[in-house]
Amino acid sequence: MDKITVVGAGNVGATAAQRVAEKELAREVVLIDIAEGIPQGKGLDQWESAPIEGFDSRVVGSNGYEESAGSGIYIVTAGIARKPGMSRDDLLTTNAGIVRQVAENIARVSPDAIIIMVSNPLDVMCYVAMKASGFPRERVIGMAGVLDTARYRSFLALEADVSVEDIQAMVLGGHGDTMVPLISYTTVSGIPITQLISKEKLDAIVDRTRNGGAEIVKYLKTGSAYYAPSAGAVQMAEAIVKDKKRILPCAAWLQGEYGMSDLFLGVPCKLGRNGLEQIIEVELTDAERDELKKSADAVLEPMKLV
Ligand code: NAI
Ligand code: 2OP
Repeated sequence: MDKITVVGAGNVGATAAQRVAEKELAREVVLIDIAEGIPQGKGLDQWESAPIEGFDSRVVGSNGYEESAGSGIYIVTAGIARKPGMSRDDLLTTNAGIVRQVAENIARVSPDAIIIMVSNPLDVMCYVAMKASGFPRERVIGMAGVLDTARYRSFLALEADVSVEDIQAMVLGGHGDTMVPLISYTTVSGIPITQLISKEKLDAIVDRTRNGGAEIVKYLKTGSAYYAPSAGAVQMAEAIVKDKKRILPCAAWLQGEYGMSDLFLGVPCKLGRNGLEQIIEVELTDAERDELKKSADAVLEPMKLV
């Protein structure tokens, strides 16, 4: 791919840009932020690591969008974190304003791009980006399920004392404490996880996964997770750039799938060169279906505010 742009040169965005460059997913990586000097400085610093790390993706920073024109993918991480005195709704409307403006700019300079949304609240920001860009659902995809699933898999690997690579799993639903880790689809090299980990321990892992974001915030105090989130966004970009047809849990605009319509929700998606190429509908237990419905309700409520 010629160009991949990351919008928001903060913790997630800068780390994502570096990962994209180190994997040489594009000839040029553009880092955009409103903060003067920050994307330029971080971009140059990353480019100066190229001779050591051995990559040839040029990283450049900018405060505008012209530099990014013609990008195939935009990873959007722009936004603000909740500040003291700010309600969840305040955060929602502030970030919606930022994401709206970002998406309009993307549509203006790169009308054929694919947007990988990361900014929170994730599912609602995907909706804002889709509306503001006018892009079809194939080209607006949210990153959350990959992260939530990675957390789940990492905890399972520790408990079962096996390689993370051998754990197959999927966390569906919205990116919040209503997310739905699918125990029925969790295996270790095909062996159902229930044969290796007790129900009690599995329940505790599901709980820890649901609170995975908060666990990191509690340690960091002044920010939220960014190593695993940036890895998640870049895995999605890689699936698209290399047309890998990977099946990953992503936030997608539902149009009847899982009996729901007109909202973004985490579901199994096939990602390839066209972006979202298919939503896979898997069989769910009654309990899982109920949980997914509850998770959808938690997404629909804040959608009314944007
Ligand atoms: P950060 O505060 O380190 O970076 C955000 C950056 O956005 C800042 O550099 C800021 O200057 C920039 N920004 C603000 N308004 C902008 C605009 N209009 N145009 C361009 N840039 C703008 O935050 P961090 O840790 O990088 O997180 C970014 C976002 O990603 C947050 O909303 C966070 O909640 C979300 N997030 C989502 C995850 C997910 O699973 N979907 C996981 C981790 C973070
Ligand atoms: C996370 O799950 C904050 O959404 C972010 O870490």
